[in-house]
Amino acid sequence: MTVKVQGVVATRKGAPVELATVLVPGPGPGEALVRVQACGVCHTDLHYREGGIGADFPYLLGHEAAGVVEAVGDDVTEVAPGDFVILNWRAVCGQCRACAKGRPWYCFATHNARQKMTLEDGTPLSAALGIGAFVEKTLVAAGQCTKVNPAVKPEVAGLLGCGVMAGLGAAINTGGVTRGDSVAVIGCGGVGSGAVLGAVLAGARTIIAVDVDDRKLEWAKGFGATDVVNSRNADAVDRIRELTGGFGADVVIEAIGRPETYEQAFYARDLAGTVVLVGVPTPEMRLDLPLLDFFGRGGALKSSWYGDCLPSRDFPMLVDLHLQGRLPLEKFVTETITVDGVEEAFAKMGRGEVLRSVVTF
Ligand SMILES: NC(=O)c1ccc[n+]([C@@H]2O[C@H](COP(=O)([O-])OP(=O)(O)OC[C@H]3O[C@@H](n4cnc5c(N)ncnc54)[C@H](O)[C@@H]3O)[C@@H](O)[C@H]2O)c1
Ligand SMILES: [Zn+2]
Ligand SMILES: [Zn+2]
Repeated sequence: MTVKVQGVVATRKGAPVELATVLVPGPGPGEALVRVQACGVCHTDLHYREGGIGADFPYLLGHEAAGVVEAVGDDVTEVAPGDFVILNWRAVCGQCRACAKGRPWYCFATHNARQKMTLEDGTPLSAALGIGAFVEKTLVAAGQCTKVNPAVKPEVAGLLGCGVMAGLGAAINTGGVTRGDSVAVIGCGGVGSGAVLGAVLAGARTIIAVDVDDRKLEWAKGFGATDVVNSRNADAVDRIRELTGGFGADVVIEAIGRPETYEQAFYARDLAGTVVLVGVPTPEMRLDLPLLDFFGRGGALKSSWYGDCLPSRDFPMLVDLHLQGRLPLEKFVTETITVDGVEEAFAKMGRGEVLRSVVTF
């Protein structure tokens, strides 16, 4: 049965988002209908609104969500009505070429349930990252639902569905940060702060947080950064070198998605060190560097999609660490807002006032 709910829709490139009536059909085979309880506002939602990710407007935004499964399609066995789940944008398919090679964290499968959600006039909605969760109820592929301990607060759990997982995983999975490493994180929004927390969890010895906003740097210290650099007032590369015995960091994580900060990351790492790009660039961005420096500095230049996570492995584990008091995920939630507050939340994000605004239903 189709339900009628209110959702946050980006109708055209650059235009403010609007609350619109969304028609959500009942779940077919392989699908689940989820009652969303909380959904964080991620910078990627703003990239969608700006046309930076694609031109498939209208978009149903929101993708950092947790909620309760309300109904499932006939053949669905992995989740059942009543389960508390975090929504993921990597439902490992087990069949694509990445899965076949035993590298499921690169799974290339896409999910189609989303294309069934429409506006009232029948216009199909493209759901952000195949989820679309700034809406009371959403239809997803059942594999996009990862069951976790329901003792966790939904507004905290949902953040593992994207930004915090992307940052944590960029440090631990992609960057391979390990005990004793030096790590620099450039850009300490929700994603970068997740990377700081990942470096803490992995046992890094030096964790340098870089941002242009002192408030973000204060928060980064709260997550466990050992040093902070405001790159408005200081040269990020010089400072990172100074703080690492003159050499540069073992792992530098770029969590903004800009050529100039990527260049900082490139030169702020030690010889044979690792750069992890987790920030998402836009199509017009270019990078111009001496090829000799790529050769001469060696090491690994990696990009991190979703922190190379495996939702079924990582979400329940991270929720348990949080419930044991070992992962302060609650510090990411600067405020909870109602579903009509997403446009204002983008503005607050732009002004640097929040790590995460989280819509609760
Ligand atoms: N790779 C992935 O899987 C993945 C997942 C989620 C988000 N992202 C991307 O990660 C990026 C960060 O997302 P977010 O939600 O943390 O955004 P955010 O807006 O909360 O944080 C960005 C931070 O960068 C800082 N910053 C901006 N310009 C800077 C500069 N020149 N030097 C230093 N700091 C600067 C800002 O002050 C802010 O603290 C976005 O591009 C987003 O699309 C990637
Ligand atoms: Zn796959
Ligand atoms: Zn996101």
